[in-house]
Amino acid sequence: MRKRLGVNIDHIATLRNARGENHPDPYTVALKVLKAGANSITVHLREDRRHIKDKDLKILSSNKSIPINLEIASDPQMVNIALKNKPSFICLVPEKRNEITTEGGLNLKKNKNKIKNILEIFNKHNIRTSLFINPSLQDIKLSKVLGSKCIEIHTGKISNQIKQQKNYSKELKKIKKCATYAKNIGLEVHAGHGMDYKTTKILNKIEQIEEFNIGHFIIGESVSHGISKVIKQFIKILK
Ligand code: PXP
Repeated sequence: MRKRLGVNIDHIATLRNARGENHPDPYTVALKVLKAGANSITVHLREDRRHIKDKDLKILSSNKSIPINLEIASDPQMVNIALKNKPSFICLVPEKRNEITTEGGLNLKKNKNKIKNILEIFNKHNIRTSLFINPSLQDIKLSKVLGSKCIEIHTGKISNQIKQQKNYSKELKKIKKCATYAKNIGLEVHAGHGMDYKTTKILNKIEQIEEFNIGHFIIGESVSHGISKVIKQFIKILK
């Protein structure tokens, strides 16, 4: 069976915000992404609102035919925003103000109680819960204990190794082992971060992974591929 594809559209908002106007519009793009066959739309509402804004989340969430996977930090304010917008899925992620992107998985040990309480709230509201973690058996065990329904394995390390043509077999084995263990203890397994065509082909072989969440590469590749069509349109206008 084909694994599900969640598309992170944060960087559509990054591009839009560069001009402070409405183009490209994340909502329009979300509809196109789903029409093309993706299964869900991922957005990360960051504390600094550097890409997706509250208004984007509100507009996206108001269309209940869009399955939204909302990524948030383990923060009470974010929990309130999430409860107001009622996304289909929630993924708790670590967040550092100065990072360019989500650099690693959650520190579950340190934030045990906070995360457990947040998961309980979303589970009660029938919002699918997930924790973004590094491939670690200990963190998978703890994810289950804390009450998460899913885990998302951070694939940043293996993605970099593959891109840099380094040996990735040890990391792949680790991810496979973690995915198998997670599935065996009743967690649904997702994966994401830094993935491109090659990484996806490799990780797609791990049968326990049911969903991939991919963002930056898809947006970059879409710009690269789409530009010829746009230029042709301008040439037609200029004739
Ligand atoms: N999954 C999670 C939990 C993320 O936070 C992100 C963005 O950092 C992604 C997937 C997508 O990563 P990328 O944009 O590198 O594909």
